Amino acid sequence: AVLDTLLCVGAYLVGAVPFGYLVARARGVDLFKAGSGNIGATNVARTLGRKYGVLVFALDFLKGAGPVAAVVPLARAIDPDAATDAGAAAFLRVGAAALAFLGHLFPVFLGFRGGKGVATGAGAVCVLVPIPAAAAVAAWATVALATRYVSLASLCAAAALVIVWLAASPDPFGRGQLTITAFLIVGVAVVVVKHRANIRRLLAGTENQIGDGPMRDK
Ligand code: G3P
Repeated sequence: AVLDTLLCVGAYLVGAVPFGYLVARARGVDLFKAGSGNIGATNVARTLGRKYGVLVFALDFLKGAGPVAAVVPLARAIDPDAATDAGAAAFLRVGAAALAFLGHLFPVFLGFRGGKGVATGAGAVCVLVPIPAAAAVAAWATVALATRYVSLASLCAAAALVIVWLAASPDPFGRGQLTITAFLIVGVAVVVVKHRANIRRLLAGTENQIGDGPMRDK
């Protein structure tokens, strides 16, 4: 349990590295004061250009994917008796996913002012639940292309993730899968809450679209 806890703290610290904030600061921009005020890839693209947005998306994605992929091999390398049964290994992977995600949302390095969780969450779920994650990516691309609203695409992707997971899993509320179901539902709820300013703007018809000028969260 001590090893599991340390590995999850490690996943949190990886998730808490604010790549968007750091890349923007290296370019002389304070992301909290630019565009939507968010530290995510969308706001980096809006403020610094698409190339930097893609870079920050990739780095934030890896913060989610890396810990989930590495946690079980790492645990077994440190202690050959760790996470030997499938249930314990699955639990550890969900723990790493949840903590990396929380690290991005509430980074200790920025006074807990973090991002909206889409890129880091995407990285985590691509490793954890690849089929629902692929459906979410497809939903994101479809909505982004059709509407040019990144936030709406993110919200639809989050919904698709949970719907496809619930529909495609043989027993999503059974013993083996309940922790994944709980993580996905709570994670998606947190993503929705983090997008509340975007939702207000979408309803008011004032949300920023891909290609538009800057817009601040209020
Ligand atoms: O992942 C964040 C995206 O959905 C919205 O970003 O900067 O437009 O609030 P932003």
